[in-house]
Amino acid sequence: MEKLLGQQTKPPRNKSIIRMFFLRVIVAVTLTSALLFTFPDALLKPSWITERLFGLSDEYAPNSQHGACQQVPKLSPKNKDVEQFIQQKVESPEYQKEIINKLSGIIRIPSESYDDLGPIGEDKRWDIFYKVEQYIKAHYPTVFQNVKLDHVNTHGLLLTWEGSVPASEAKPLLMLAHQDVVPVFAENVKDWTHPPYDGYYDGELIWGRGATDDKGYLISIIESLDLLIKSGFKPKRTVILSFGCDEEISGAHCALPISQLLHSRYGDDGIYLIIDEGSMGVQKEFDRSFAMVSVAEKGYMDISINVTSTGGHASNPPDHNTIGILSEIVTTMENNPFTGRVTSKNPTFDFLGCAAVHARESSFPKEIRNKLSKVARGDGKAQKKLAEVLDSTMRYYFRTSQSVGIINGGIKVNAIPELAMARVNVRIAVESSIAQVEEHYEKLIKPIAKKHGMVFEGFNSTRNSTDPRKVSVFSQDGLEPSPVSPVNAEAFKVLSGTIRNTLKPLDINNEGDIIVTPYLMTANTDTKYFWALTKNIYRYTPITLEQNLNHAHTTDEFIRADAFVREPLFFATLVLNADDAVAAR
Ligand SMILES: *[C@@H]1O[C@H](CO)[C@@H](O)[C@H](O)[C@H]1NC(C)=O
Ligand SMILES: *[C@@H]1O[C@H](CO)[C@@H](O)[C@H](O)[C@H]1NC(C)=O
Ligand SMILES: *[C@@H]1O[C@H](CO)[C@@H](O)[C@H](O)[C@H]1NC(C)=O
Ligand SMILES: [Zn+2]
Repeated sequence: MEKLLGQQTKPPRNKSIIRMFFLRVIVAVTLTSALLFTFPDALLKPSWITERLFGLSDEYAPNSQHGACQQVPKLSPKNKDVEQFIQQKVESPEYQKEIINKLSGIIRIPSESYDDLGPIGEDKRWDIFYKVEQYIKAHYPTVFQNVKLDHVNTHGLLLTWEGSVPASEAKPLLMLAHQDVVPVFAENVKDWTHPPYDGYYDGELIWGRGATDDKGYLISIIESLDLLIKSGFKPKRTVILSFGCDEEISGAHCALPISQLLHSRYGDDGIYLIIDEGSMGVQKEFDRSFAMVSVAEKGYMDISINVTSTGGHASNPPDHNTIGILSEIVTTMENNPFTGRVTSKNPTFDFLGCAAVHARESSFPKEIRNKLSKVARGDGKAQKKLAEVLDSTMRYYFRTSQSVGIINGGIKVNAIPELAMARVNVRIAVESSIAQVEEHYEKLIKPIAKKHGMVFEGFNSTRNSTDPRKVSVFSQDGLEPSPVSPVNAEAFKVLSGTIRNTLKPLDINNEGDIIVTPYLMTANTDTKYFWALTKNIYRYTPITLEQNLNHAHTTDEFIRADAFVREPLFFATLVLNADDAVAAR
């Protein structure tokens, strides 16, 4: 082909062609100037043109200013006096020393919650929570003079700072924290660098159980109220603090009744915004700092499988007894894990979009970037492909997880076991549901029961079979994946603007502003009881969580003091900005 073209003779340059050429140049220059005059962006950013021309294809281009993950401007409170009062306070050494002491002190109260706790009022182990209440009352007298305190099931504490505008016109802002901590077992105490309940401050870190999860958060939000009250600020929008007593054991004693009380007061959608602890703070991903706000939680399920049969003497055994059949079921489950798929419903997908746009081009893998547009358009093949690419690093953000945690069977080596049982913990992907998980397991397990000539009792079975040879599956504590909180809501913009105003990226000199991104929580918080109160539920901890979440739930939990002392500035600014949004209506 090349040769052929090369042999073509050039057309003669006659006058009309030259005239045509100049005409084209003039038209081109005129059009370009008009374009640049109207859209000056095009001059500065070549990608602007490709974005306009190709639409979606560049939504995930590096530094795309019109694509995914648009950032709101920094939001600063209108009331400058109050803002300055709080900023100055937070910078002052006396304040910093005081709040560190307050956190150390509350860590010294070992308010552990245990899975086998009986009802409040009956089980004496709850009484430690009286001490927590006394402690916060003693250290925040100003707050308690200004709020209405409700005791919910004795140890749930609800503090309401009434705004001047009725809740029907300005929905309240709700901040959650929990008073309880994960227990430290006596045999593990020696593994701690500093004893878990000393609240030791070494000049840099505050150590102890609850430092991060969640007493640092609790102290920060009540401190923010204290600062606001002392500044003279009077809210238009009601502010509510809710301190649960049982987040670590699933919230039925405190979080549930608190949510019910709030619902009876404010009704469906009666709350403006809920903020609660998150599993991410300011974190570096793809070499860029992000404030990662969890806008959804995966679902939860515990599945049990009972295999029962007639027993007998081990000298005359069947080929497969209950233990063998259960093993076959477990192996089949593990060999058929839930498949991954990335969809645009998943907030982790939005995070990838944010990273594609805001991380440096060389730090974000091309093989992820080049699939994002297709995934957003619902291309099933691209959704599966992307899940494969992400499988090694982010696998459980995009699929349902299963983990066999307990297996039991048999009591004597020379007796045929009558019962074998296994329990499986399942965390349900946001795209899935309890019903889909049940179907998946029934499809796998039913044929195994049939093969061995056993009755199969599914999840919805009436369980009235009298046949002793059966495989039963059932579930407990089912929780659907949470609704995904909107990122285009005014409440999210207020939160987002507050984050951008008060928090800084990890590499302050090289990164510019912090980028706020939606994210997914793979664990559950107390917010699981609060879905009816608002769509705007955001789980966010305004610090950097290092070394596996500051060692929350394990040995040597800590919090970095310089970050902790600034948390109240974030929460107070959130209250002020949410209050300004009332006036803006
Ligand atoms: C399963 O087995 C356990 C004993 O391990 C028993 O308590 C439970 O009632 C059984 N459930 C069903 C549905 O068979
Ligand atoms: C069990 O019943 C629920 C509620 O009716 C339903 O959503 C679910 O799909 C059923 N599960 C199975 C495996 O049939
Ligand atoms: C179990 O209950 C179901 C529904 O009530 C019924 O259809 C079935 O015949 C019962 N089976 C036995 C063995 O009683
Ligand atoms: Zn927690």
